[in-house]
Amino acid sequence: MALEILATGHYVPARRVTNDDLAKTMDTTDEWIRSHTGIGSRHMAAEDEATSDLAYEAAIAALEQLAPGKALEAAQTIDIVVVGTSSPDYYGFPSVACIVQDRLGIKNAGAFDVIAACSGFVYSLEAAAGMLNQGRKRALVIGADVLTKITDWTDRGTCVLFGDAAGAAILEKTDAPSTGAGRRGIIRTILGSDGSGAKELMCERGGTRNPFKKGETIEKPITLYMNGRAVYNFAVKAFTDTIENLLEAEGITMADVKKIIPHQANMRIIQAAAKRLGFSEDKFFMNIEKYANTSNATIPVALDEYARSGDLERGDLIMTVGFGGGLTYAGNLIVW
Ligand code: UT7
Repeated sequence: MALEILATGHYVPARRVTNDDLAKTMDTTDEWIRSHTGIGSRHMAAEDEATSDLAYEAAIAALEQLAPGKALEAAQTIDIVVVGTSSPDYYGFPSVACIVQDRLGIKNAGAFDVIAACSGFVYSLEAAAGMLNQGRKRALVIGADVLTKITDWTDRGTCVLFGDAAGAAILEKTDAPSTGAGRRGIIRTILGSDGSGAKELMCERGGTRNPFKKGETIEKPITLYMNGRAVYNFAVKAFTDTIENLLEAEGITMADVKKIIPHQANMRIIQAAAKRLGFSEDKFFMNIEKYANTSNATIPVALDEYARSGDLERGDLIMTVGFGGGLTYAGNLIVW
């Protein structure tokens, strides 16, 4: 039995905002953003667009690939909906997964969100995989975020980094072998965390630790705080360790891996990791220039773009690797 990704899809909001657009309203430049991050533009959700709207569109794109012209019929075959997100439509509940399940008209499926920040899509795949191994057949796994609505637009050190997007994958338990020759699907996953770094990347207000109080004057909406340097250092180590550990555990080398689909947080993190590991940056599929850091969505969006590029063939071995708030890190090896 293999856990195979049968189809993928993604969605980005229509509004594209370039670095030059940002430079008109804040003290930044295209040159600074590009040279420090590799980002050229980002897409931003409309006023009336929430995370579940993006997630729904990405799901439709994946279902449409699975069953052209019959996306909503194909949705009926889903047994479980898992959404990795750091910016749900509503605080606490309902989950984005339940909203998407309802809009797709899926009956008799479990639905829940996963909070693992930018590692969330890999965590969500693994959660779904575990459930498929317990008897379910098909899962809809989504990574979706609208971070631009929880970004502090007065903090140029963070606001230029983020964008909005969603990516989706249909994961199914199939009869293909998961070991030996001809194996397919997700063959190995690493999930990790270091909660001691929680304060380096967090939304401090609004939760039960630090709730808004009656009568309090709220000076700014809930926004994320990031200690960029600390997260950068964690990221380069988590990135390189996860790649090395996946290769070592599987007894393979980078030559066996066709492409790495990384979390797209900063081009310099990729360059630093590639240098440490001694292989070319070309091993990574990058789209950060177009979309910036879309948190839970970066890996599934990149996976979908790569899968549709024509370069990814059945039987190819690829790797995902991510890190994020928590702090968390995660990666997996997939035979396409
Ligand atoms: O997915 C979530 C995980 N997050 C990450 O992976 C982010 C990890 N961290 C990073 O990618 C980098 O630390 C940043 C891109 C956030 C920052 O890059 P940096 O090279 O560490 O810059 P810095 O924060 O040390 O700032 C350097 C200078 C400062 O000016 P001074 O003090 O040297 O005069 C900043 O004020 O750059 C200034 N600066 C800016 N200048 C123009 C910071 N942001 C901007 C900006 N435009 N947007």
